[in-house]
Amino acid sequence: MFHEYKKVIEEGDLVVAYATPESMSVIKVSSGEILNNRYGNFWHSKMIGLKFGSKIQSQTGTGFIHLLSPTPALWTQVVPHRTQILYLPDISFISLYLDLKPGKVVIESGTGSGSFSHSIARTVAPTGHLFTFEYHELRAQTAKQEFAQHNLTDVVTIEHRDVISNGFGRNNIADAVFLDLPAPWDAVAAAKQALRADTIGRICCFSPCIEQVQRTALALNEHGFTDIRMFECLAKNHEVRSVPLPNIDEAISGNKINFKAIANELKSKKRKMDIDTDQDILVSKPLDQVRGHTSYLTFAILAPTDN
Ligand SMILES: C[S@@+](CC[C@H](N)C(=O)[O-])C[C@H]1O[C@@H](n2cnc3c(N)ncnc32)[C@H](O)[C@@H]1O
Repeated sequence: MFHEYKKVIEEGDLVVAYATPESMSVIKVSSGEILNNRYGNFWHSKMIGLKFGSKIQSQTGTGFIHLLSPTPALWTQVVPHRTQILYLPDISFISLYLDLKPGKVVIESGTGSGSFSHSIARTVAPTGHLFTFEYHELRAQTAKQEFAQHNLTDVVTIEHRDVISNGFGRNNIADAVFLDLPAPWDAVAAAKQALRADTIGRICCFSPCIEQVQRTALALNEHGFTDIRMFECLAKNHEVRSVPLPNIDEAISGNKINFKAIANELKSKKRKMDIDTDQDILVSKPLDQVRGHTSYLTFAILAPTDN
């Protein structure tokens, strides 16, 4: 699971019950259990033997869900939030900028809810490794259990540890370090020790406030990191809509087409509108709200020190 995919659902498997992009949940398949959601009741026993990706009807036949194999991207959307978590735009950008790929060794702190850890693990598997550190004992234990349930123990090692006071306890092993901590600047010296001396080391610090970025950049500079850059990722989602085709006669006659009036009419009539389908066109429209600021991403590299 997560880095190896199964074809058929069996007892005990983790399944993402996907109703809509906004409505998903994760279940552990167990005969005798029933998933209840706003789309109906779904018996786990009926899921066993189906292929991942199958669509099943609710008991009454009025609703349906798809049974998906868990992936890091889906996990991020269903993970129980024990802390703030990283979302897909930041996860994808950080993974690329830290040059994560199979075989890389990564150090992360704090583990938090393990949202990013799952993606890192999938990206560096099967030959790489993630060492992740969390000083909140219960969070560390919960994440450890999840990594075990998700068959990630060969790729992930989690340690209950305060990395500011005690460092990472590992020197000269990491290709990349990722810090999602309130005071990342206090862990920069430890990060430098953990990074490999024989190759370029990369670091990313994830901080919501610009003052944290300033202090982090100063610390990175002091410890010899270079190419310090800061980014902010904002995702702009689009949705597909059906809108009536503007009248061609009006267009030819030169009468101005009032798109605003069309949009307002659409808005007021919403789904009640009964338009001839021949007159409809599919358009893509950005959603009115762009998901807000999550954090600033401060990146830097450490040149090889072992010549
Ligand atoms: C925002 S959460 C990380 C969320 C994580 N990136 C995710 O995607 O799920 C920050 C975590 O850092 C942990 N933390 C804070 N200070 C720490 C320290 N000195 N050593 C280890 N963990 C620490 C907190 O307990 C918290 O769980």
